[in-house]
Amino acid sequence: MKEPASIQLIPFSDTHRDWATAILKETWGSTKVVSKGRLHDAIHLHGYVAIHENDPVGLATYNLEESECEMVTLNSSQPALGIGTALVTAVKDTAIRAGSERLWVITTNDNVAALRFYQQRGFRLAALHKDALRVSRRIKPQIPRTGKGEIPIRDELELEIWLSEKRSPAIVNLHHAQITIPNEAENEGRRFYCQVMGLQEIEKPDSLKSRGGFWLLVGDKDVHVELKKDVDRRVTKAHLAYLVNDLIGWRDHLEKHGLLIKELSPIPGFDRFESGDPFGNRLEFIQKKS
Ligand SMILES: CC(C)(COP(=O)(O)OP(=O)(O)OC[C@H]1O[C@@H](n2cnc3c(N)ncnc32)[C@H](O)[C@@H]1OP(=O)(O)O)[C@@H](O)C(=O)NCCC(=O)NCCS
Repeated sequence: MKEPASIQLIPFSDTHRDWATAILKETWGSTKVVSKGRLHDAIHLHGYVAIHENDPVGLATYNLEESECEMVTLNSSQPALGIGTALVTAVKDTAIRAGSERLWVITTNDNVAALRFYQQRGFRLAALHKDALRVSRRIKPQIPRTGKGEIPIRDELELEIWLSEKRSPAIVNLHHAQITIPNEAENEGRRFYCQVMGLQEIEKPDSLKSRGGFWLLVGDKDVHVELKKDVDRRVTKAHLAYLVNDLIGWRDHLEKHGLLIKELSPIPGFDRFESGDPFGNRLEFIQKKS
């Protein structure tokens, strides 16, 4: 292996704003990138620029928030000189100094090289955000459909490094939700959720099959539909909110199936309405405003 190249790292500042705009646009089509449904304009973030032989050759930007640090972009214009590694180390050290407990990064499913790069530098896979690019493209429509190696770009992979020994018992994500329907309504329930709502049934573990009910896949989460008698589901405001990308289409579809639609108070950034399944479970349909 060659000697590591001499690389100097300096904080990202106006001096390199034009150069950074060019490198970000070349890689991401814009200075704006989306991760986990959130738009960042990397040009306004804090970061580090790598300098090699007096020229800028790499950029990392990051966002410190609460007890975490997201590395938002990482670029190197001269591969295999150690530039990417040096930038990751600099962001990691900054995150530690800032008291962050976790450094995380998002890459897309096509970026196999980045997946390898990050894992070799101590990152571990933390989450798969299946179909996250549907949301990203609503925010940034110019994200291409296919990426490296003509792989369709669909999912986000979240990688992380824990920086703090005292890893607080944080909740990582929501895994599943459960609703109930009446004991005698299993077939009707299955028909409603699989045919009218169009959700895919997934197999229950053998150990739970004897109880009846069925499990559904909603995006990357499960919804468990269990059987319970003598429950008045209409008295509770508890509900599941289904994220959709054609709210008007869903309103028509549900009305065609005889379901009532109820307007809900507006909330920022979303349109939504409420309906209900035939058993009294409230259903919210929600769409991000474009
Ligand atoms: C991912 C990326 C940032 C890596 O940057 P880089 O500057 O090539 O990174 P490094 O030089 O530190 O490491 C790259 C490889 O070179 C090797 N290397 C590092 N220093 C070296 C040296 N002095 N001599 C020989 N090889 C070296 C590393 O071991 C590493 O090997 P690997 O491919 O087996 O992991 C760069 O490829 C890039 O900009 N990609 C496009 C944007 C992107 O995908 N960003 C990440 C997603 S957010």
